[in-house]
Amino acid sequence: MCGIIGYIGKNSPKEILLDGLKNLEYRGYDSAGIALRNENDVQVIKSVGKIRALEEKINDMELIKANMGIAHTRWATHGKVTLENAHPQQAGYITVVHNGIIENANELRENLIKNGYSFYSNTDTEVVAVLLNKYYEEDKDILKAISQTLSVLKGSYALGILVKDIDKIYAVRKNSPLIVGIGSDEYFIASDIAAIINYTNKYLLLDEDEICELSFMGVKVFHNGIIVNKEVLTTDLIYEDTSKGKYQHFMLKEIMEEPDVCSKTLDKYLDNDLLIDLSKYEEIHIVACGSAMYAGMVGKSLLEEFASIKVDVECASEYRYKKVFYNKKTLVILISQSGETADTIAAMRKAKENGIDTLGIVNVKTSTIAREALYKLFIEAGPEIAVATTKAYLLQVLVLALLTIKAYNKDVSSLMEEARKLPRLLKEVLEKEDLYKEIARTICSSEDIFFIGRGIDFSISMEGSLKLKEVAYIHSEAYQAGELKHGTISLIEEGMPVFSIITDEDIKDKTLSNVIEVKSRGAKIILITNDDKIEKQDFTVVVPKVNKLFQAILVVPVLQLIAYYTALYRNCEIDKPKNLAKSVTVE
Ligand code: G6P
Repeated sequence: MCGIIGYIGKNSPKEILLDGLKNLEYRGYDSAGIALRNENDVQVIKSVGKIRALEEKINDMELIKANMGIAHTRWATHGKVTLENAHPQQAGYITVVHNGIIENANELRENLIKNGYSFYSNTDTEVVAVLLNKYYEEDKDILKAISQTLSVLKGSYALGILVKDIDKIYAVRKNSPLIVGIGSDEYFIASDIAAIINYTNKYLLLDEDEICELSFMGVKVFHNGIIVNKEVLTTDLIYEDTSKGKYQHFMLKEIMEEPDVCSKTLDKYLDNDLLIDLSKYEEIHIVACGSAMYAGMVGKSLLEEFASIKVDVECASEYRYKKVFYNKKTLVILISQSGETADTIAAMRKAKENGIDTLGIVNVKTSTIAREALYKLFIEAGPEIAVATTKAYLLQVLVLALLTIKAYNKDVSSLMEEARKLPRLLKEVLEKEDLYKEIARTICSSEDIFFIGRGIDFSISMEGSLKLKEVAYIHSEAYQAGELKHGTISLIEEGMPVFSIITDEDIKDKTLSNVIEVKSRGAKIILITNDDKIEKQDFTVVVPKVNKLFQAILVVPVLQLIAYYTALYRNCEIDKPKNLAKSVTVE
């Protein structure tokens, strides 16, 4: 969601900034812009729509000879998708790019207008630019102007700042990610490492209340006006990790990586202590957003059934504002691929403020949740670029299963053995692509699709349904199979696809009777099951049968691939679906 890249150094910033913007595209955006600076001038070029459009515009223009610049992809929050609202935003000496939301922007804007200031855009970012300029004009002290501005801002921000008469870039952040890249005689700011991985693998993490100053000589970080020493970190990410390789889309590449990343995550955890003892806790709250929450729903079934711990699952945007009944033995588990989802971060902080232990199940190791949660379990997904998560969801479920096993008071050696087979079984599941393509071809012109299942199969259905909505733009609903006849069954029509997930032996017959109900009303049944003896339907996908703890891991890739091919046949923008962002860093 919005992306920032900034560059100062020996090379021409234009190519580096455009390249960085392309690597940030996956975060989701609807306009883009760039500011180039030299000692005499700041040139801003913006465009609505894709980076391609910005690039074309830039190539048609006469550019200043610049040695530094900042650039941005905007995902509209304050104000429509227009050229005026695209970043960079400017006021007097100041040019700024911003991720996040300034919550008191309206109030600040009104005060400024009363004092004679005017605005050309609807953005909260322009308010920041005007404030920075106002304070800078007073004393010509930029560090002071930044501190003064930040002291009145409420909300979240990552800011990249250029000043007309200073040969430097400034950067600050609060509740929004921003890293500083260290190259040789060149320095960067970026929303994430993917934007600069072509140039450097060294970076430092900026903490809140710090101001970073990037010059041609290097990087200085100030806290309350005093220089602080920051550790320079090295990422093991390589360019290939962030490219599509032989695949047409990142989504397909990432699904196909599942056996590999599953193996890596198992290697990390199977023989090692998870460093958290669940027996200390009487109840668990799993809090997350989107697919991560649906992974949490699978985790709830597992933890309750196998480890006998009461688990509540809630979406973070609700949890953060509701009355929560904690007791001292509550554990709050935050699940997040990015570790930067604003609502999930807020839920984590709420738990911490109440003295509650937190566990983050996270992919990005440098993220806010990774840094702030008391305990952390990292999934080993590597970079996930497609907006709709696939491999990270799978590993979230895997880690929850491993957590359950470690809390299980029985001999678990046979479960461990079974876990080791998962990568091979996953490969088998992924190999049946022809069948998934055939199903996708059959459903790709449908307007409405249902998913039904019970218990853990319902949780899996939620993820299957979300994937179709996200990438194929098909209305679909996941329903508890037994609940369908309390109203929703009236929507079933001749030929309507109904996915039925049946993996839970204990309630198989109950779900089968719901299948018969919808079938007799004309539904086309796509059955996904681990029971090879079950009565065949219009389409039947049989996945290998494993212990219930791991079964979701072999079913969900089927749904991911069907969603992928359905989106492909509908000509959808698979990796960057409309209106969606990879990491929702604002409320
Ligand atoms: C966005 C993504 C989803 C993801 C959700 C939570 O909505 O499009 O794929 O599940 O955010 O993201 P997180 O990084 O917290 O797992």
